[in-house]
Amino acid sequence: MGKLAFCGGDPVRKDPFPEWPRAGKEEKAWLEKVLSGNRWFAGLQGDDPEALGTLFGERFARLHGAKFALPVANGSVAIDVALRAGGIGTGDEVIVPAYTFISTATSVLMVGAVPVFADIEPETYCLNPLDIEHRITEKTRAIIPVHLGGQVADMASIMRVAKEHGLLVVEDCAQAINSARDGKKAGNWGKMGTFSFQSNKTVTCGEGGLIMTNDQSLAEKVTALRAFGRFGSRPGARSSDLTCERLSSNYRLSEFQAAVLLGQLERLPQEDNVRQTNAERLTKAIHQIPGLKHIRVYEPSIRHGYYYYLVRYEPASFNHADPEKLCAALNAEGIPFVPGDRQPLYRHPVFKPENLAGSLCPEVLEQIRHSKNLQNPECPVSEEACNCTLLLRHQVLLGNEKDMDDIAEAFWKVHKNIDELG
Ligand SMILES: Cc1ncc(COP(=O)(O)O)c(C=O)c1O
Repeated sequence: MGKLAFCGGDPVRKDPFPEWPRAGKEEKAWLEKVLSGNRWFAGLQGDDPEALGTLFGERFARLHGAKFALPVANGSVAIDVALRAGGIGTGDEVIVPAYTFISTATSVLMVGAVPVFADIEPETYCLNPLDIEHRITEKTRAIIPVHLGGQVADMASIMRVAKEHGLLVVEDCAQAINSARDGKKAGNWGKMGTFSFQSNKTVTCGEGGLIMTNDQSLAEKVTALRAFGRFGSRPGARSSDLTCERLSSNYRLSEFQAAVLLGQLERLPQEDNVRQTNAERLTKAIHQIPGLKHIRVYEPSIRHGYYYYLVRYEPASFNHADPEKLCAALNAEGIPFVPGDRQPLYRHPVFKPENLAGSLCPEVLEQIRHSKNLQNPECPVSEEACNCTLLLRHQVLLGNEKDMDDIAEAFWKVHKNIDELG
């Protein structure tokens, strides 16, 4: 296998992996439709029957077996709007995993509520249902499970806890387009599911988002909050009714973005198949390498969406190299691994009361000052994950069999020559 490329040897490969995002004839055809017409926005409520945004919502809902799928500007405001539609506001506590993307928790602050961090499961990196209950107080109103990397959280158990305590569940499905567990697609377990179509996602228009629900009255609230708090789409209301009932802003998606999303969605099934097949091959190879594990639960009932291919390594098997060092060695071999998150969310300075002053009302700020959870939430699994996780972006899984074999070969090479890294 030779000397590590990081130390001057020959790399395992020099060819690039597939890139993302990519557009095909599908996006171009839909975009041409928008450009050649004069409908560039989806209407006052973002729900005109002829709008491409409406059509995309219908197709996305069908793919996920849901009743309503309402496009919005991005995945962060999707959480914000969903929480407000669900009645979450000032001083309410919302349980979120400590290991996820920042806006799962900052969206809670954006509605004036307080995030409460809970730990993740080591097998899935998703919210641990056993770590929720002892964090519930009389102020707790909601839980936001995140389907990290495309692995659906243990929703049956999370829903049991939520039901027992009367809590709203909003699933953060930003990384879980077309993921499923026990025959149910992500976004259908809780009252609402939020999605992101940001540039890295498996269905993207650069920036975009969506709120999915099976509840008509929530769909009406989301529609109103998406467009300045106008309730014009309420049954019986005139669609031209511009009366604002609730404070909100403009979170609509443009028709250009919807056009790109329609094109992306048409190619998703074929791309998804390639990712699933490649992930299976890669996983078989990865699990042969001492100290390596692909993060996901292997049950036939789980359909992983493969946004990320997460790999956890046993530091002792890799000479205690940190994720940056291991990535540098793998990158030199031509494999585009990147380190997973290097700090749990609660270490971000944004959660410090002094940095929130001016953004929250004095009572909530005081609540945050006294929050033991924000000072030290005790999430050891999240802490550990920050020091032993690498990931591949989903486009790497759009390659061929040899690409997967190269990834495993590079990992073997780094494992066998780890002492060279120093
Ligand atoms: C888990 C999670 N939640 C929320 C978001 C926010 O989505 P957006 O970037 O569209 O605002 C992301 C984006 O990557 C995410 O991964």
